[in-house]
Amino acid sequence: MKALATLLAAGSALNGATAHYFFPNLIVDGVTTEYFEYVREDTQGYMPYKNGYQSTDFRCNVGSEDFALQTKTCTVKAGATVGFATDFGAQIQHPGPLQANGSKIYEIGPSAFTSDGIEWGVTGLDQITFGIPDATPAGQYLLRIEHIGLHGASVYGGAEFYFNCAQLEILGDGTATPGPTVLFAGAYTGYEPGILFDMYSKRFVNYTMPGPAVWPAGISSNISADGAIHVPDDDSSWSFAAVTSITGFASSTSARIYPSSVPLSVTPTSSNIRSTGIPEPTESVNPEQKSSHAHLHGKHGHKSHCRAR
Ligand SMILES: *[C@@H]1O[C@H](CO)[C@@H](O)[C@H](O)[C@H]1NC(C)=O
Ligand SMILES: *[C@@H]1O[C@H](CO)[C@@H](O)[C@H](O)[C@H]1NC(C)=O
Ligand SMILES: *[C@@H]1O[C@H](CO)[C@@H](O)[C@H](O)[C@H]1NC(C)=O
Repeated sequence: MKALATLLAAGSALNGATAHYFFPNLIVDGVTTEYFEYVREDTQGYMPYKNGYQSTDFRCNVGSEDFALQTKTCTVKAGATVGFATDFGAQIQHPGPLQANGSKIYEIGPSAFTSDGIEWGVTGLDQITFGIPDATPAGQYLLRIEHIGLHGASVYGGAEFYFNCAQLEILGDGTATPGPTVLFAGAYTGYEPGILFDMYSKRFVNYTMPGPAVWPAGISSNISADGAIHVPDDDSSWSFAAVTSITGFASSTSARIYPSSVPLSVTPTSSNIRSTGIPEPTESVNPEQKSSHAHLHGKHGHKSHCRAR
């Protein structure tokens, strides 16, 4: 999180980077894996994707089911640090939040609310990493990352979505039940305050991250300016750090996350697919991969890594 804050400060100027990016590279414990090696490819190409809130294409991207078999599955231990890198170092430049999904395990929202608009924690980044919670139960997961571009989001369907899914096999002794969980399609209607959002029409001192709360920290998705309830009514310039609300904890400075966190969700592949009626749970993992790391399911091999590289 510290690194994010540093990069954020440096990232306000456009660096000539492409605005249209995607997330083809999974990062595992500091190692950036190959282009679409563990991330499902798709037929969309450059993003964004817009307005298909109820489409299964919203899960892992257009046509990505067809790439499930040829995508490797990365074996990691719960507690590992994972993440995504953009295509060829493209920097995230569109204003908006980022989150990783299933049960949301990570999110990056506003870093500051200012008289010039919201500053976003991911602006200028070309990779994002976060931990797989220790309590995550072992199993196969689709790890979905999502950045939402809000510059056109004042009209319904105008928010731009940039997202991909990596295939993970998580090892560990976790027995928790991640939640709340949501499913794509269906997680969003498009009318959420953080999705149908006119970033130009007025100034804001709060932002509601779309989707569920972050698991397992109990961080709510309501991010507000530290010390301001209303936008100051004078014309002076102002800036307030963003603070993520904490539910279930007494409010305290130690509960602050700066930049605010974004949820990441880990969704079991099979339940995700079943609930949307796509008959593919077992084929979603490369059978060769599956057998090649099957022996790791025992008490051995608890080192974080991807197999078959
Ligand atoms: C994202 O996570 C939510 C919450 O668990 C889940 O409902 C939704 O299906 C996930 N989205 C995708 C694309 O997996
Ligand atoms: C800000 O908070 C108000 C009051 O709860 C809410 O109505 C509004 O939707 C929030 N705005 C955003 C962008 O989340
Ligand atoms: C979000 O936080 C703001 C500021 O604390 C509060 O006024 C607002 O009611 C909250 N909105 C929701 C939806 O929790």
